[in-house]
Amino acid sequence: MNILILSSGTRNKVVQYFKAALAGQGKVICTDMSNLAPSIYEADKFYIVPRMTAPGYIDVILDICKKEQVDGVLSLIDPELSLLAENRDKFKAVGTQVIGSSYQLCEMSLDKFQMFRWLTEHGYRCAQSYMDKEIFFADVAAGKAKYPVFVKPARGSASIAISKVYDRETVELLFSHSDGLMIQEFLDGQEIGADVYIDMISREVVSIFTKKKILMRAGETDKAVSFRDENLFALIKQFVEEAGFLGQIDIDIFQVNGEYYISEVNPRFGGGYPHAYECGCNHMELILNNLRGKANPCRIGMYEEGICMMKYNEVMVKKI
Ligand SMILES: Nc1ncnc2c1ncn2[C@@H]1O[C@H](COP(=O)(O)OP(=O)(O)O)[C@@H](O)[C@H]1O
Ligand SMILES: [Mg+2]
Repeated sequence: MNILILSSGTRNKVVQYFKAALAGQGKVICTDMSNLAPSIYEADKFYIVPRMTAPGYIDVILDICKKEQVDGVLSLIDPELSLLAENRDKFKAVGTQVIGSSYQLCEMSLDKFQMFRWLTEHGYRCAQSYMDKEIFFADVAAGKAKYPVFVKPARGSASIAISKVYDRETVELLFSHSDGLMIQEFLDGQEIGADVYIDMISREVVSIFTKKKILMRAGETDKAVSFRDENLFALIKQFVEEAGFLGQIDIDIFQVNGEYYISEVNPRFGGGYPHAYECGCNHMELILNNLRGKANPCRIGMYEEGICMMKYNEVMVKKI
């Protein structure tokens, strides 16, 4: 059983966890466009590949899959998820299963406004969002919206170009400088992260790990504490199965006045996944079982509460 991790970057832990799950019964192969991506040196083998937008990129990856007899492939970066999903059949033809959600769901997850529309249409609580600032200003005038709001790129990530905005002038200024911005109601509450695995055979949610975020830095959760709430598990299960996500996903949720609001989904291993793994939610095992044709039993919430994650920097030094 061989696993290919695309754009593994600095996600050394994910590589280590897959190696541990394979326990020598297969290889973990990584790719990155840079030979300064530390995770590739954790892998059994690595390939330096062109940027994912380069012509012929997907053929390079398919060739690796064929040559290395890759059973399952996944990516750790957002823009590549749709590309993998779109080429699912080509991977299947070389004997490789794409570990991830459908093209349509990957695209919806990339676009916060599309996600907002889906959530409202399906009756889930979420932050009121606007692409059209004039509609927002009209709602403010009508008393239906208020400041502060979050202004952010609808297709952004890693908290880049996100601002908390307190007045109309700043909204106008931001909109005059960039396209594709979205205005979002400020959710004043506890931020929560969920690492979820949806079985690729039974299509049911089989593992959920939830944590309260204590400190965020540069778009990532720096400190967090595990917790459990059956109501939240039920909401996540319903949402995820109704939308049809598959494999590993990461969900941002807010708790405001006792109610849960779904904020966004990354249909991949999130940067905070090591917290879930170290608390016993070994999703690498679940993936390997699925690739072996075995459905996983449900083990939602099988972890301890009150376990804290504290991130710190590690350094790799190497002559290349
Ligand atoms: N509507 C909002 N209310 C409160 N905080 C928000 C809101 N939107 C974004 N944030 C803050 O900014 C962070 C990044 O925003 P998010 O929508 O998750 O985009 P990204 O794709 O960059 O992670 C969130 O984790 C949260 O801390
Ligand atoms: Mg986020």
